[in-house]
Amino acid sequence: MIDISTSYMGLPLKNPIVVASSSLTGSVEGVRKCAEAGAGAIVLKSLFEEQIVAETASLSEHADDYSGYGEAYDYLQGYGMELGPQQYLDLVSGAKKAVAVPIIASLNCDSGGRWAEYAAKLELAGADAIELNVSIMPTNFKQEGHTIVDTYLRILHEVKQKVNIPVAMKVGPYFTSFANFVDRLTHDRAEAPAYSVGWLGKNKDHGKITWKSADGLVLFNRFYKLDIDIDNLKLVHGQPYSSPAEINYSLRWLSLLAGKAGCDLAGNTGIHDGRDAVKALLAGAKVVQICSTLFLHGLEQIGIIEQQLKSWMEAHNYEKLCDFRGLLSQAKSDRPEDYERLQYIKLFVGME
Ligand SMILES: Cc1cc2nc3c(=O)[nH]c(=O)nc-3n(C[C@H](O)[C@H](O)[C@H](O)COP(=O)(O)O)c2cc1C
Repeated sequence: MIDISTSYMGLPLKNPIVVASSSLTGSVEGVRKCAEAGAGAIVLKSLFEEQIVAETASLSEHADDYSGYGEAYDYLQGYGMELGPQQYLDLVSGAKKAVAVPIIASLNCDSGGRWAEYAAKLELAGADAIELNVSIMPTNFKQEGHTIVDTYLRILHEVKQKVNIPVAMKVGPYFTSFANFVDRLTHDRAEAPAYSVGWLGKNKDHGKITWKSADGLVLFNRFYKLDIDIDNLKLVHGQPYSSPAEINYSLRWLSLLAGKAGCDLAGNTGIHDGRDAVKALLAGAKVVQICSTLFLHGLEQIGIIEQQLKSWMEAHNYEKLCDFRGLLSQAKSDRPEDYERLQYIKLFVGME
């Protein structure tokens, strides 16, 4: 008897297929449809920090060029569909009433502070967990890298201080020292806030604080893509949906971090079918988050992925996810160096 139930950040899930944050999960009706289609958990559309909404408004003038992409129109307006804070709380409580699967609220933040207060309201509204969608664009020529990393840690820490439900961080793949970042993000530890000067000022004794760690880490967010129209000499939107070929970077880091990060890992970006889900689980993911494949193939893809996963497990005589989760992670490999290979070398790949 095949059992694909699992847990994610301590939440019990009937299966590891989580619908990622998007306009598909921006209404109670959308959430209900995802649950009916078989989702193990649902991440709601992000509530976006107003500043980001304002920044992306200038790009929305190009959105009409892309109207053929239907729901992606939202994304082109900077993930669009800005629900107000009260509407968002209504979405959380409505979603909780409508479905039995865990509901993960999503906050997009780049500064912390008032978002931490708001996170507490999400908990009161019934959210089972919170996913922090944090993406800081490192375009400030004067800002040093470690201060950016500290901002991520600080946002997490401030939110964790306000809520009792689990908190996941959803981040992009662009970090200088990703393993170190994950180590600091996913383990509670006492450390002086070395670089966040503004914040350090608030910490009167300048001593150590116990930084709170994440309960989940989503690898990786796929950011808005920018492109150039060479005929009309203007900026246009890149492809809003991922392709299965984009899974590799997530697989690399899932397999490097499994068993080492201090929290559950969720695979994201490029997971389009059951085979992709199996890959992410073999690499060490607790769950997979899917989005593009649902836009491209419909919500029935959730059931298809579930069936494909079960068929693969049957063919390989696995009864439970823990029988094979992380089997191909670096921690379990007798060739750990293979996971760190960056360059193409003829000896290994037969190219050049
Ligand atoms: C139309 C659209 C809207 C999205 N909106 C959000 C959002 O509000 N918050 C968020 O964290 N990610 C958002 N994303 C990113 C997805 O949740 C997901 O991380 C990304 O698409 C990669 O997964 P995939 O390869 O399965 O599509 C959106 C993606 C798309 C295509």
